[in-house]
Amino acid sequence: MKKNYYEVLKKIETIGPNIEKTELLKKTVEILKENIHHYNWVGIYLLEKNVLVLGPYAGKPSPHTRIELNKGICGAAASQKETIIVSDVKADPRYLACSLETKSEIVVPIMRGKKVFGEIDIDSDKPDAFGTEDQHLLEKITEILAKKF
Ligand code: SME
Repeated sequence: MKKNYYEVLKKIETIGPNIEKTELLKKTVEILKENIHHYNWVGIYLLEKNVLVLGPYAGKPSPHTRIELNKGICGAAASQKETIIVSDVKADPRYLACSLETKSEIVVPIMRGKKVFGEIDIDSDKPDAFGTEDQHLLEKITEILAKKF
């Protein structure tokens, strides 16, 4: 794992057990945005009665504060219960635009077993910015977050 990814994971692993859920979600988006250069927008959506509701985020305000499960990359990841990486958002008909600068996106569900509590959504201004290392890091982080639900 890249050095800064490892450090991000260690930080979140260390604070995870010691702070409450809301604080941990907030710190997680801040740590990811501050330490990983190509993460231009980082947010957490929480699943409330079949609607994804935007919680803490770092980056510009998004028009998509509520997303239904049959809408967007966000809805697809939560309903398929798996990570989705989109290397070119313009080529994906599911994509709901947030910023004109966004070129690629990753969405990782926060789950325990098959139960989805929410997801981490990250946009990058770089095309094809996300790979297996990002997926691996973010899935480890969502495991830590899932313990709080
Ligand atoms: N692009 C997402 C919507 C959320 S914004 O990126 C913050 C989607 O297609 O679901």
